[in-house]
Amino acid sequence: MTTVDPAEFTRTMAHVPTPVTIVTTVDVAGRRWGFTASSFSSLSLDPPLILVCPAKTASCHGAFVSARRFLVNVLASDQREIAGTFARSGGDKFGGSPMVPCESGLPGLPAATARLACALHEVLDGGDHSILVGRVESVFLSGAEPLIYHNRRFTQPTAGSALAASS
Ligand SMILES: Cc1cc2nc3c(=O)[nH]c(=O)nc-3n(C[C@H](O)[C@H](O)[C@H](O)COP(=O)(O)O)c2cc1C
Repeated sequence: MTTVDPAEFTRTMAHVPTPVTIVTTVDVAGRRWGFTASSFSSLSLDPPLILVCPAKTASCHGAFVSARRFLVNVLASDQREIAGTFARSGGDKFGGSPMVPCESGLPGLPAATARLACALHEVLDGGDHSILVGRVESVFLSGAEPLIYHNRRFTQPTAGSALAASS
């Protein structure tokens, strides 16, 4: 079995642009949990499934793998600051944030470019992460320009990329 150099793997994956999301849930005690995640992807159309992957070391991990529902907020290009807030481990990330109860009463961002409310469908093992498979129950799309993470920096789509993608 060949082993890949971890630094090379990390550098290679950093070069792959990803969306930036904040995934939230509320546990049975009513505590809000959330983390910044770029490991978000569409998975299936029928049934409508998405996936997102919290690290097993994240303080929110236990809350997400036992959640009934979670909400994926896909960030708009002017939401870098809150991406940074929810990328810090622990503490009260929600205090002073623009999060309000949205779909299923879960914390959401009214100005997100999209939101997907999900029921937890399955939890799979993904090495040092868990793979949360969510069954999408409702979607909201504002269509605002999305925030992109590329080479460890927040950026936004370059002019013309939307046209190129839709043609
Ligand atoms: C752009 C970006 C994307 C991230 N994507 C993920 C991810 O997909 N999965 C993950 O576990 N952590 C990801 N992180 C790191 C978490 O947001 C970070 O570890 C967070 O502090 C975890 O919160 P907690 O420990 O308070 O639960 C990302 C961070 C950034 C800045």
